[in-house]
Amino acid sequence: MAIKQVGVIGCGLMGSGIAQVSAQAGFPTVVIEANQAFLDKGLGGIRKTLDGLVAKARIDERARDETFGRLKGSVHLEDLKDCDLVIEAITENQTVKNETFAKLDAICRPHALLASNTSSCNVTAMAAATRRPGQVLGLHFFNPVPLMKLVEVVRSILTDDASVKTAYEWVQAVGKVPVLAKDSTAFIVNRLLVPYLLDAIRVYEGGLATLEDIDQAMKLGCGYPMGPFTLLDLVGLDTTMFVAEVMFEEFREPRYAPPPLLKRMVMAGRLGRKSGRGFYDYSK
Ligand code: CAA
Ligand code: NAD
Repeated sequence: MAIKQVGVIGCGLMGSGIAQVSAQAGFPTVVIEANQAFLDKGLGGIRKTLDGLVAKARIDERARDETFGRLKGSVHLEDLKDCDLVIEAITENQTVKNETFAKLDAICRPHALLASNTSSCNVTAMAAATRRPGQVLGLHFFNPVPLMKLVEVVRSILTDDASVKTAYEWVQAVGKVPVLAKDSTAFIVNRLLVPYLLDAIRVYEGGLATLEDIDQAMKLGCGYPMGPFTLLDLVGLDTTMFVAEVMFEEFREPRYAPPPLLKRMVMAGRLGRKSGRGFYDYSK
């Protein structure tokens, strides 16, 4: 099955990046947000990124305008009806995702593939909420989407071979590198990365060192591109907490439980870069 038109639900950190790379690769892409203000913010962010690429002569104005021309924003899920592949990138919540998949199933044509960018939720449950479980899978992009090459193609016990093949080839067509993972909570990368990030918060809570020194240590001592607190702020502390909760619920291992400080940061609205303040201050 050829993917001609793509849909993305959610135009936040991840959805905007996925929509951008899809449109840049030549796919007409419909982006859905919960309301007009979020949609304007998301599309405005893509526009700013593309303008930045023009300013750096990475792309020309024509490529920018053509890319933007392939993006269509909407606040109505029904506008996804002609998409061959829909990628959900909304909040990390299993119940809301399952409900969204049930709605998508009623709207999209029978051949369409339905994918989730979930970090940790159960793809099998999303598949079971539809009448096309064989065509439901995970397509897990990494943040920041335009720069990160990896996509985990997540196969549930219900996903059929043809859907995996089509999704895998589409990932390659947008210039990313796919790896296959089973639908086991948090897949490959987050299964290994999230405990590390949670441990960083715990050692900071324990008074081992300053935020800055922990970040510096992991950058210079391990060659990581970012220290754990810079990365936590990039990912979003709310998203990290939701992922940790899902992992703890699944495995019941204390190392996956969200540390008290993470919960309090979220309660305080310090969500990271996206809210202007997380472990670091981005207000300026
Ligand atoms: N679209 C296209 N290009 C972009 C862009 C965008 N949105 N944003 C920046 N660029 C371009 C820049 O213009 C720049 O181009 P030039 O080389 O021409 O200047 C280039 O990309 C590099 O930009 P930066 O100098 O800002 O990049 P950097 O070298 O500092 O690297 C980084 C940035 C790739 C984010 C790097 O710091 C990194 O790899 N950090 C770790 C990220 C990471 O671990 N992500 C995973 C998070 S976990 C996750 O995603 C899973 C989950 O479920 C939570
Ligand atoms: P975000 O909070 O930046 O964006 C989520 C967006 O979804 C918001 O703009 C919100 O308005 C919108 N939304 C919520 N419910 C909606 C609905 N019913 N219809 C339409 N839009 C709706 O979150 P994010 O970081 O982009 O995360 C989105 C998904 O991607 C989550 O499942 C997350 O776990 C996953 N993910 C996140 C990262 C990361 O680093 N942040 C990396 C990989 C995967």
